[in-house]
Amino acid sequence: MKRLIAFGLGILALGAGCSKQDNNDRCVGTNYDIQFTKNPAIGGVNNGSIAIFYPRGDTLRYQLNNGAPQANPNFTGLAPGNYVIWVINKKGCSDTTSTTIEAYGPKYAAIKQIISGYCGPCHLNGGASGGKNLDTDASIVASWDRIRIRCVNGAPTFMPQNGQLTAIDKQKITDWVNAGHRITD
Ligand code: HEC
Repeated sequence: MKRLIAFGLGILALGAGCSKQDNNDRCVGTNYDIQFTKNPAIGGVNNGSIAIFYPRGDTLRYQLNNGAPQANPNFTGLAPGNYVIWVINKKGCSDTTSTTIEAYGPKYAAIKQIISGYCGPCHLNGGASGGKNLDTDASIVASWDRIRIRCVNGAPTFMPQNGQLTAIDKQKITDWVNAGHRITD
Protein backbone atom coordinates (compact mmCIF):
# COMPACT_ATOMS: atom_id res chain seq x y z
CA MET A 1 0.00 0.00 0.00
CA LYS A 2 1.20 3.49 -0.76
CA ARG A 3 0.58 5.93 1.99
CA LEU A 4 0.39 9.63 1.45
CA ILE A 5 0.38 12.08 4.30
CA ALA A 6 0.25 15.63 3.06
CA PHE A 7 0.53 17.98 6.01
CA GLY A 8 1.37 21.13 4.12
CA LEU A 9 -2.27 22.01 3.85
CA GLY A 10 -3.59 19.36 6.17
CA ILE A 11 -4.54 16.72 3.67
CA LEU A 12 -4.58 13.04 4.48
CA ALA A 13 -5.19 10.70 1.61
CA LEU A 14 -4.51 7.20 0.40
CA GLY A 15 -2.66 6.55 -2.82
CA ALA A 16 -3.30 3.44 -4.82
CA GLY A 17 -1.75 1.54 -7.66
CA CYS A 18 1.58 -0.11 -8.18
CA SER A 19 3.52 -1.15 -11.23
CA LYS A 20 6.98 -2.30 -12.16
CA GLN A 21 9.16 -0.59 -14.72
CA ASP A 22 11.05 -3.77 -15.39
CA ASN A 23 9.10 -6.96 -15.14
CA ASN A 24 11.93 -9.50 -15.48
CA ASP A 25 13.11 -11.76 -12.67
CA ARG A 26 15.90 -9.40 -11.66
CA CYS A 27 13.31 -6.96 -10.35
CA VAL A 28 10.82 -9.34 -8.80
CA GLY A 29 10.07 -8.27 -5.26
CA THR A 30 10.99 -4.62 -5.77
CA ASN A 31 8.28 -3.17 -3.62
CA TYR A 32 8.49 0.15 -1.82
CA ASP A 33 5.98 1.55 0.64
CA ILE A 34 6.35 4.94 -1.01
CA GLN A 35 5.36 7.78 1.31
CA PHE A 36 5.25 11.43 0.40
CA THR A 37 3.69 14.77 1.15
CA LYS A 38 2.26 17.07 -1.46
CA ASN A 39 0.98 20.60 -1.85
CA PRO A 40 -1.47 21.86 -4.46
CA ALA A 41 -0.79 24.45 -7.12
CA ILE A 42 -2.43 27.67 -5.95
CA GLY A 43 -3.84 30.59 -7.89
CA GLY A 44 -3.10 29.46 -11.44
CA VAL A 45 0.63 29.23 -10.79
CA ASN A 46 2.63 26.01 -11.26
CA ASN A 47 3.72 25.93 -7.64
CA GLY A 48 2.63 22.46 -6.57
CA SER A 49 5.11 20.17 -4.88
CA ILE A 50 5.80 16.55 -3.96
CA ALA A 51 8.31 15.49 -1.32
CA ILE A 52 9.07 11.77 -0.99
CA PHE A 53 10.14 10.90 2.53
CA TYR A 54 10.20 7.09 2.25
CA PRO A 55 12.18 5.32 0.93
CA ARG A 56 15.27 7.53 1.09
CA GLY A 57 18.82 6.53 0.26
CA ASP A 58 22.00 7.55 -1.55
CA THR A 59 21.54 4.88 -4.21
CA LEU A 60 17.91 5.69 -4.99
CA ARG A 61 16.65 7.93 -7.75
CA TYR A 62 13.26 9.62 -7.97
CA GLN A 63 11.24 10.44 -11.05
CA LEU A 64 7.89 11.97 -11.93
CA ASN A 65 6.05 10.70 -15.00
CA ASN A 66 8.52 10.51 -17.88
CA GLY A 67 10.88 13.10 -16.43
CA ALA A 68 14.55 12.60 -15.70
CA PRO A 69 15.46 10.52 -12.63
CA GLN A 70 17.05 12.61 -9.91
CA ALA A 71 18.73 12.06 -6.55
CA ASN A 72 16.66 14.79 -4.92
CA PRO A 73 13.38 13.40 -3.52
CA ASN A 74 11.73 16.84 -3.63
CA PHE A 75 9.89 18.16 -6.67
CA THR A 76 8.66 21.75 -6.84
CA GLY A 77 7.11 24.03 -9.44
CA LEU A 78 4.56 21.41 -10.44
CA ALA A 79 1.52 22.08 -12.61
CA PRO A 80 -1.83 20.67 -11.50
CA GLY A 81 -2.43 17.17 -12.84
CA ASN A 82 -1.80 13.49 -12.32
CA TYR A 83 1.67 12.24 -11.50
CA VAL A 84 3.29 8.82 -11.37
CA ILE A 85 6.03 8.82 -8.74
CA TRP A 86 8.92 6.45 -9.47
CA VAL A 87 11.46 5.19 -6.97
CA ILE A 88 14.35 3.52 -8.83
CA ASN A 89 17.13 1.57 -7.15
CA LYS A 90 20.72 1.03 -8.22
CA LYS A 91 19.79 -2.14 -10.11
CA GLY A 92 17.39 -0.08 -12.20
CA CYS A 93 14.37 -1.74 -10.61
CA SER A 94 11.52 0.45 -9.58
CA ASP A 95 8.19 0.79 -7.90
CA THR A 96 5.60 3.50 -8.42
CA THR A 97 2.62 5.16 -6.90
CA SER A 98 0.39 7.86 -8.28
CA THR A 99 -1.11 11.08 -7.06
CA THR A 100 -2.83 14.24 -8.20
CA ILE A 101 -1.68 17.80 -7.69
CA GLU A 102 -4.87 19.78 -7.27
CA ALA A 103 -5.48 23.29 -8.54
CA TYR A 104 -6.62 25.46 -5.65
CA GLY A 105 -8.02 28.91 -6.13
CA PRO A 106 -6.64 31.54 -3.74
CA LYS A 107 -9.89 31.82 -1.75
CA TYR A 108 -10.03 28.07 -1.18
CA ALA A 109 -6.35 27.99 -0.22
CA ALA A 110 -7.22 30.50 2.52
CA ILE A 111 -10.06 28.24 3.73
CA LYS A 112 -7.69 25.26 3.92
CA GLN A 113 -5.32 27.35 6.00
CA ILE A 114 -8.09 28.39 8.40
CA ILE A 115 -9.27 24.80 8.78
CA SER A 116 -5.82 23.36 9.38
CA GLY A 117 -5.07 26.21 11.81
CA TYR A 118 -8.26 26.10 13.88
CA CYS A 119 -10.31 22.96 13.34
CA GLY A 120 -7.95 20.22 14.52
CA PRO A 121 -7.95 17.97 16.44
CA CYS A 122 -11.75 17.94 16.56
CA HIS A 123 -12.32 17.71 12.79
CA LEU A 124 -8.93 16.73 11.33
CA ASN A 125 -6.70 13.64 11.15
CA GLY A 126 -9.72 11.42 11.57
CA GLY A 127 -11.42 13.63 14.18
CA ALA A 128 -15.15 13.87 13.55
CA SER A 129 -16.74 15.95 16.33
CA GLY A 130 -20.41 16.43 15.61
CA GLY A 131 -20.05 13.81 12.86
CA LYS A 132 -17.96 16.25 10.80
CA ASN A 133 -14.53 15.31 9.47
CA LEU A 134 -12.77 17.90 7.30
CA ASP A 135 -9.67 15.98 6.14
CA THR A 136 -10.52 15.98 2.44
CA ASP A 137 -11.26 18.72 -0.07
CA ALA A 138 -14.50 16.91 -0.90
CA SER A 139 -15.70 17.02 2.71
CA ILE A 140 -14.87 20.72 3.04
CA VAL A 141 -16.62 21.62 -0.21
CA ALA A 142 -19.67 19.56 0.77
CA SER A 143 -19.76 21.33 4.15
CA TRP A 144 -19.49 24.89 2.84
CA ASP A 145 -22.86 25.97 4.27
CA ARG A 146 -22.28 24.37 7.66
CA ILE A 147 -18.83 25.97 7.86
CA ARG A 148 -20.33 29.38 7.12
CA ILE A 149 -23.26 28.97 9.50
CA ARG A 150 -21.07 27.76 12.37
CA CYS A 151 -18.02 29.97 11.86
CA VAL A 152 -19.52 33.20 10.50
CA ASN A 153 -23.09 33.25 11.83
CA GLY A 154 -22.33 31.37 15.04
CA ALA A 155 -25.63 29.50 14.93
CA PRO A 156 -26.41 27.87 17.28
CA THR A 157 -22.89 28.42 18.67
CA PHE A 158 -19.61 29.51 17.15
CA MET A 159 -16.99 27.18 15.70
CA PRO A 160 -14.17 26.72 16.53
CA GLN A 161 -15.62 25.49 19.79
CA ASN A 162 -14.45 27.64 22.72
CA GLY A 163 -13.46 30.49 20.44
CA GLN A 164 -14.26 32.44 17.32
CA LEU A 165 -12.41 33.24 14.16
CA THR A 166 -11.15 36.78 13.65
CA ALA A 167 -13.25 39.13 11.55
CA ILE A 168 -10.65 38.77 8.78
CA ASP A 169 -10.92 34.97 8.77
CA LYS A 170 -14.72 35.12 8.83
CA GLN A 171 -14.57 37.41 5.81
CA LYS A 172 -12.38 34.84 3.99
CA ILE A 173 -15.13 32.25 4.48
CA THR A 174 -17.78 34.69 3.23
CA ASP A 175 -15.65 35.55 0.20
CA TRP A 176 -15.14 31.88 -0.69
CA VAL A 177 -18.86 31.11 -0.31
CA ASN A 178 -19.85 34.11 -2.45
CA ALA A 179 -17.33 33.15 -5.13
CA GLY A 180 -19.02 29.75 -5.54
CA HIS A 181 -17.42 27.62 -2.74
CA ARG A 182 -15.37 25.40 -5.08
CA ILE A 183 -11.74 24.36 -4.70
CA THR A 184 -10.92 26.43 -7.78
CA ASP A 185 -12.33 29.69 -6.36
C1 HEC B 1 -12.17 21.85 20.38
C2 HEC B 1 -12.90 21.07 19.38
C3 HEC B 1 -13.45 21.78 18.16
C4 HEC B 1 -12.82 22.65 17.31
C5 HEC B 1 -11.41 23.20 17.42
C6 HEC B 1 -13.75 22.91 16.25
N1 HEC B 1 -14.89 22.21 16.45
FE1 HEC B 1 -16.51 22.06 15.17
N2 HEC B 1 -17.45 20.82 16.46
C7 HEC B 1 -16.99 20.46 17.71
C8 HEC B 1 -18.02 19.71 18.41
C9 HEC B 1 -17.89 19.13 19.81
C10 HEC B 1 -19.13 19.63 17.53
C11 HEC B 1 -20.50 18.97 17.81
C12 HEC B 1 -21.36 19.88 18.69
C13 HEC B 1 -21.88 21.08 17.96
O1 HEC B 1 -22.37 20.93 16.80
O2 HEC B 1 -21.78 22.19 18.49
C14 HEC B 1 -18.71 20.31 16.31
C15 HEC B 1 -19.50 20.42 15.18
C16 HEC B 1 -19.13 21.05 13.99
C17 HEC B 1 -19.87 20.99 12.77
C18 HEC B 1 -21.08 20.09 12.50
C19 HEC B 1 -22.31 20.55 13.12
C20 HEC B 1 -23.10 21.47 12.21
O3 HEC B 1 -23.64 22.44 12.72
O4 HEC B 1 -23.15 21.22 10.98
C21 HEC B 1 -19.21 21.77 11.86
C22 HEC B 1 -19.58 22.04 10.42
C23 HEC B 1 -18.04 22.30 12.54
N3 HEC B 1 -18.02 21.84 13.83
C24 HEC B 1 -17.11 23.13 11.96
C25 HEC B 1 -15.92 23.53 12.55
C26 HEC B 1 -14.92 24.32 11.89
C27 HEC B 1 -14.99 24.80 10.45
C28 HEC B 1 -13.90 24.49 12.79
C29 HEC B 1 -12.63 25.26 12.60
C30 HEC B 1 -12.76 26.63 12.11
C31 HEC B 1 -14.28 23.81 14.02
N4 HEC B 1 -15.52 23.24 13.84
C32 HEC B 1 -13.50 23.72 15.15
C33 HEC B 1 -15.73 20.71 18.20
C34 HEC B 1 -14.77 21.53 17.63
